[in-house]
Amino acid sequence: MTTHFAFRLSNGIENTKRPPIPQAYKWAESYVATPSRPLLDMSQGVPGVPPPKNVLDALGAAASDPTTCGYVPNAGELPLRRAIMEEMKHQYGSEADLTPEDIAVTAGCNLAFVAVAMTLAGPGDEMILPIPWYFNHEMTLTSLSITPVLLLTRPEDHFLPSPERCEALITSKTKAIVLVTPNNPTGAIYPPSLVQQFAELAQKHSLALVLDETYRNFITTGAPHALFTPTPSWSWRSTLIHLYSFSKAYCIPGHRLGLLCAAPTLIPHLNIALDSLQICAPRTPQRALAPLLPTLRPFVRASADAVAHRHALFRAELPGRWAIGSQGGYYAFVRHPFVGVHADKVCERLAGEMGVVCLPSGFFGPGQRKDEEPERWIRFSVANVSDEKVKLVCGRLQESEQVFGWEVDPL
Ligand SMILES: Cc1ncc(COP(=O)(O)O)c(C=O)c1O
Repeated sequence: MTTHFAFRLSNGIENTKRPPIPQAYKWAESYVATPSRPLLDMSQGVPGVPPPKNVLDALGAAASDPTTCGYVPNAGELPLRRAIMEEMKHQYGSEADLTPEDIAVTAGCNLAFVAVAMTLAGPGDEMILPIPWYFNHEMTLTSLSITPVLLLTRPEDHFLPSPERCEALITSKTKAIVLVTPNNPTGAIYPPSLVQQFAELAQKHSLALVLDETYRNFITTGAPHALFTPTPSWSWRSTLIHLYSFSKAYCIPGHRLGLLCAAPTLIPHLNIALDSLQICAPRTPQRALAPLLPTLRPFVRASADAVAHRHALFRAELPGRWAIGSQGGYYAFVRHPFVGVHADKVCERLAGEMGVVCLPSGFFGPGQRKDEEPERWIRFSVANVSDEKVKLVCGRLQESEQVFGWEVDPL
């Protein structure tokens, strides 16, 4: 039944596309799974395991404690903000210049991004987003009537954004450059020197650099960047806004916990948005996690090692005509081998006929270049599958080359 509204929706919401993931599950509905050929899902960027038992127990205890039932100030519980600061120093280095006053706890990282967008920009302003984009960033901007300005990233650059091309997109309306590293959807891990170049670019043009580092714990090769370490010519608080999620590393997406890290003088402005969006973030996970964060380092590291192992397995098992363009965090971005066929069509047939659910690049923004053949990139998430399933997926990708009957790239 469709109801005719007597009122009109906002232009922002009217102009915003719906989240694309349900489409992939629709494609999978026609697949007839059997016990020997189950549906294999590499579409979802969610952790494959629950948090450790002591986290579950602490969540239970905090939830049943009457003192967690009230509000806390917008920025969150001080013990958690102190613990977060310590974890960030553990990851970015002991010289990182961070205090609890730099941290505001949010009901998830998506909400942190909405608060930042509301605080920095209004209708008609612009923010630069690399594409392929994280679709909730684009949805937030479009729904707030902020214009996303698209910075192409290219397979030949391993999907790393170019500061030079970014600079050419800056106008008097630009308010921020938004980067995600490790990236969703491409998995590309931006080297510290590249992040530094973007910080200098933002500083030069008096813009904010908004860095969504939801997947930072999955970098196992050292600090993600050195921006929190002051130098004679750089102090992060003038330029950087860091965003983070507890959903991935701590496996609690349903408890809605994230944070933003920004200059203490910016936080009161952000609090105006946070107060109207959330008042405060859920208290149960704040209480539960505060004393546990340092003890969870081995768990977080073991999860990162398991994901890295699965990336290596996927790389090793992937049939020869399927090419990995970039890989890291939860994701691998893969070029399918079917000549002249759009990734949407390939993902539809993979889901419906081969029982493999994965997401085409079209879900993450418009096509790359007008001169390019149809989009051939697909996001696979290695987070939520067992090693066994990774092997099964790769076997079915190989089979699809015969089953689909399309021309394939030469080996
Ligand atoms: C880059 C990025 N930012 C934010 C989020 C959402 O985080 P949260 O669950 O904390 O809102 C995701 C989830 O997939 C993500 O990939």
